Amino acid sequence: MAFATFVAACYSACNQTGCFALGAGAVDGDIEGDMGRGLIPPRLSGCLPRAETSVRRASANRAGHPPKKSWGQHMSSKGSASGTTADIKRALRVGVIGAGVMGSNHARVLAGLPGVVMVGVVDPLPEHRTRVTAFAGCRAFETLDDLLAEGVDAVTIAAPTHLHHEIALACIARKIHILVEKPVASTVEEGREIVTAARDAGVTLMVGHVERFNPAVAAIKQAISGEDILSIGITRVGPFPPRMSNVGVVIDLAVHDIDLIRWFTESDIVEVQPQLSSAVAEREDIALLQFRTASGVLAHINTNWLTPFKARSVTVATRGKYVMGDLLTRQVTECFGFKPDGSYSMRHLPVGHDEPLRAELIAFIDAVRGGKLPAVSGEEGVASLEIAIRCLESPARPAASTAHKGPRRVVG
Ligand SMILES: NC(=O)c1ccc[n+]([C@@H]2O[C@H](COP(=O)([O-])OP(=O)(O)OC[C@H]3O[C@@H](n4cnc5c(N)ncnc54)[C@H](O)[C@@H]3O)[C@@H](O)[C@H]2O)c1
Repeated sequence: MAFATFVAACYSACNQTGCFALGAGAVDGDIEGDMGRGLIPPRLSGCLPRAETSVRRASANRAGHPPKKSWGQHMSSKGSASGTTADIKRALRVGVIGAGVMGSNHARVLAGLPGVVMVGVVDPLPEHRTRVTAFAGCRAFETLDDLLAEGVDAVTIAAPTHLHHEIALACIARKIHILVEKPVASTVEEGREIVTAARDAGVTLMVGHVERFNPAVAAIKQAISGEDILSIGITRVGPFPPRMSNVGVVIDLAVHDIDLIRWFTESDIVEVQPQLSSAVAEREDIALLQFRTASGVLAHINTNWLTPFKARSVTVATRGKYVMGDLLTRQVTECFGFKPDGSYSMRHLPVGHDEPLRAELIAFIDAVRGGKLPAVSGEEGVASLEIAIRCLESPARPAASTAHKGPRRVVG
């Protein structure tokens, strides 16, 4: 793939979540902007780590699981298992499995994090290995065993979803902490096996629901904290992705929003009413999904690959507020102070500028170092996957008019 095409693919995939926001100018974390301005970090895998100030040992966590071992307690094959001060100060050795669109970005971000040694990436494709070496300035290996032989404490898994289960179990068996890209696995059963294996081994398992780290999403979450949530509406639409994978919009896109609905409401989804249609692609390319949570919140997701431009928006109605967020421009507004005469007040909320992927990977590293419950647990990843799969139980129907099926080009 030509470099420019690869950049476009990176941009497109990351914009699934709006994690690299579009706008008039290059926003912080905008991949195109960073590359255009030569801001991709240089080779940092040999950089000196910043000394750790403390390593916290967790007792029982919220889910009642046994405490996770912190990374100093089970070192990689090249580290000692003593947990001495020297170990604690040692940089965390991290690898990335899969050097495609997401994996390359994981490698780029990890290579720039203080206290992290980016050991390398694994990919069976030589051209992807070559590309990531230039892109992220790190080493590349052909097989997982080659990477593990170098000694790693943690890996992120950004290989195709159908390989997550096998790769995750292989890493867990070596007591390596893992961040698995979303969706956590191809099936709920596989996802549960990963969760159980990680728990039994006492390693950190985090799932890459990066949208939670979008500053606009964080601002919405903060605005509705303590509010009596009534309904949530999420729109995540855009054109067909440059490369079609073997999943439709529900697994590819809506799973982000299923996670957000569960996270915003802190409640499980108990009712699912999906409407799916395959207008152009073989799998569903339009999904209108309605949900009810155990706490009684009504939510809907409108997602498709038929919109010529990307749009990602969230609205939340609570008894006291109406919050609106544009996840691309990162503008979040709330209406409040409703009066009997219909008047109300409105204000823009402050929104941060962090690159979501960077914030996510820092959260993962922190969870590994502290042996803490990660920001997005394996159980949460499986719960969102389970709801997405329930949505697929009613098959996608052809769009209303099949006579003109395929008027749009499916790129890739
Ligand atoms: N969080 C998000 O917003 C987001 C966005 C896009 C993709 N994803 C997820 O990331 C994962 C990868 O997606 P992508 O778009 O980067 O796909 P991709 O096809 O661009 O990359 C996958 C890479 O894995 C490599 N690979 C194949 N077999 C491998 C193996 N056995 N070991 C190591 N590498 C192997 C491929 O050669 C390829 O380079 C998927 O699970 C996807 O759902 C998440």
